[in-house]
Amino acid sequence: MAAAVDTLRDKIRSRKARAGVVGLGYVGLPLAVELAKAGFHATGIDLDERKVQSVNDGRSYIPDVPTADVQALRAKGLLDATTDFAVVKDLDTINICVPTPLRKTKDPDMSYIVSAVEGIAKYLHPGMLIILESTTYPGTTDEVVQPMLEATGLKAGVDFYLAFSPERVDPGNPTFQTHNVPKVVGGFTPNCSMLAKELYGSAIDTIVPVSSTRVAEMVKLLENTFRAVNIGLVNELALMCDRMNIDVWEVVDAARTKPFGFMAFYPGPGLGGHCIPIDPFYLSWKAKQTGFDPRFIELAGHINAGMPHYVADKVADALNTRRKAVNGSSILIAGVAYKRDIDDMRESPAMDVMGLLLARGAKISYADPYVPVVHAREWSGGHDLHAVDMTRGNISQYDCVVVITDHRAFDYQTLVAEADLIVDTRNAIKERHPHVFRLGAPHAAHSTEGKAAIA
Ligand SMILES: NC(=O)c1ccc[n+]([C@@H]2O[C@H](COP(=O)([O-])OP(=O)(O)OC[C@H]3O[C@@H](n4cnc5c(N)ncnc54)[C@H](O)[C@@H]3O)[C@@H](O)[C@H]2O)c1
Repeated sequence: MAAAVDTLRDKIRSRKARAGVVGLGYVGLPLAVELAKAGFHATGIDLDERKVQSVNDGRSYIPDVPTADVQALRAKGLLDATTDFAVVKDLDTINICVPTPLRKTKDPDMSYIVSAVEGIAKYLHPGMLIILESTTYPGTTDEVVQPMLEATGLKAGVDFYLAFSPERVDPGNPTFQTHNVPKVVGGFTPNCSMLAKELYGSAIDTIVPVSSTRVAEMVKLLENTFRAVNIGLVNELALMCDRMNIDVWEVVDAARTKPFGFMAFYPGPGLGGHCIPIDPFYLSWKAKQTGFDPRFIELAGHINAGMPHYVADKVADALNTRRKAVNGSSILIAGVAYKRDIDDMRESPAMDVMGLLLARGAKISYADPYVPVVHAREWSGGHDLHAVDMTRGNISQYDCVVVITDHRAFDYQTLVAEADLIVDTRNAIKERHPHVFRLGAPHAAHSTEGKAAIA
């Protein structure tokens, strides 16, 4: 009789393996779709009935996944979804893609991973491959997931196979999507790695094996900490440039012409999204458990978290040039998603900026073509806000417009023509205008270059 590892490898190669994905969000749905496109029967498991219903109705709710793909895979019988973990009985492989947020104390919240693994453990059977994809601290796979699964009596690397593979999806990126972003894979044993490599290799162009689950976990945290620290550095440079009457945007653009040894990062109103503001704290939490004090992460977190306050001050400075106070002013926030051209508002700095301006007495409205409502629970205003149109005739009623997210759908020419004052935190408005105040740059009236440009 073939060893279990050969049986599963052959099932993966022949696409007879049934693939499961737990958590059908920004990461899980694209992965389930790629596995189904590769020819597997893919089943998503999610506690959210609306997502499950949507997949089964052939509708996508993730912008990077076309509804046509979901429909076609449904029609071929290759994709389905359920809220019931009992389906694990029929599955050969499972990728876990559930959220890993922080608690208020900035400690990891492992409850989603724990509940997903509990669901799987009930139906775990010999010969399965379980891969954790959720971003988490080094040691999670062998300290948390492995013991929970082994409590069933089955042994990792012997009766079932276990691996960690970090997700690197970049929502809204038209060039790099699940299938063409290299996938790092670390198995609990060499057989675990081999099977995970086989599974991903069927749907993803390049697989990068590493020696352990811990290395794979650390890779993701290095990548995201690298971003958080470099954004912190450039944000600090922006604060310095503001004091020194230098345009940080011009500095970065010139520096990036160096063909080696430099990588451009841009300042902004603060960090957003489910990854960069959160993941480095998974690493610092774990490092502190070993008595190590990770200083870069804390410092970058401190600078990045201060940016919304700087933006609120910039708005006050801009209004001051009109002899107006923030108190009583009508302020339009342009863009509330955490980055351009997407609908994701998780951890968006727009919420902080809105809260800070509201606390100073401003009347807050927002425009965002991707986000129709900001719910009361999502910001400190205590009531739902509905998006307004940032169109001709509608802009001049505001005392100040604050560009937080540089969506391409915004008409910046009309904005410049109609707004009385603009604070631009993204350098979305390239020309210099006396009524446009940019983050990390001298106001046109104070800068020599600016004066020339507006003369
Ligand atoms: N979104 C990104 O850009 C991105 C990029 C790289 C890595 N990640 C990581 O991937 C993981 C998932 O992120 P996401 O953005 O897809 O999250 P998400 O919130 O979009 O989706 C997670 C899904 O898991 C479901 N879920 C929660 N608990 C569950 C359970 N016990 N059983 C079944 N389903 C459950 C939720 O209903 C939700 O649909 C996180 O660890 C995140 O850090 C995200």
